[in-house]
Amino acid sequence: MSQNVPDQRLSSPAVARNRDAILAVLRDVLPQRGKVLEIASGSGEHALHLARQLPAISWQPSDPNPQALASIAAWRRTEALDNLLEPVQLDVTLRPWPLEDFDALVCINMIHIAPWEAAQALLKEAGKNLEEGGVLYLYGPFKRDGQHTAESNAAFDEDLRRRDPRWGIRDLNDIEVLAHENRLRIERIVEMPANNLSLVLRK
Ligand SMILES: C[S@@+](CC[C@H](N)C(=O)[O-])C[C@H]1O[C@@H](n2cnc3c(N)ncnc32)[C@H](O)[C@@H]1O
Repeated sequence: MSQNVPDQRLSSPAVARNRDAILAVLRDVLPQRGKVLEIASGSGEHALHLARQLPAISWQPSDPNPQALASIAAWRRTEALDNLLEPVQLDVTLRPWPLEDFDALVCINMIHIAPWEAAQALLKEAGKNLEEGGVLYLYGPFKRDGQHTAESNAAFDEDLRRRDPRWGIRDLNDIEVLAHENRLRIERIVEMPANNLSLVLRK
């Protein structure tokens, strides 16, 4: 019967290109074991890969979008990974969150494809719920001192703003201020493929 069920797995081609670079940073900054809440898991392909490669971490995927949740669940069914949990519906702006027991937060490619309020809510909840020393990992394109770091990012930013004027590539200086307001500090900035950055924020 399951053959008649349409495959709900979504696929984002960028994941195959960035997942190992992301994994390398996470290996360095995540706790040895514990629970990671992934925000905005999207297709669920990062969750599958990262849970597979980090078996001592309990990986909790989440997203507000029902299609994304179905995709994450469908990818999850393709492998028997004890440490990959059922996805939960979570919109960062709907606070308090339905889930507050985590040791670290991972958020890949969300804060530029959402209103600034999403970044504000994410950092607020990180500051509130992380233990001292806990990490919030962000991945995506960022501006530095108001400047894009590449032509392609400038074009992407224009496209984002055309799609929704509340969206757009964020400036590292604004993230730094927001971090400070929420008892977090940017501990590390790592250059990543395709003019993206990894930001490691620690409480
Ligand atoms: C570009 S996709 C990134 C998905 C995945 N992390 C990746 O890199 O392939 C952006 C994701 O952010 C999610 N998102 C948008 N607004 C959000 C919010 N307020 N709270 C949590 N997730 C949100 C969307 O549902 C979508 O899955």
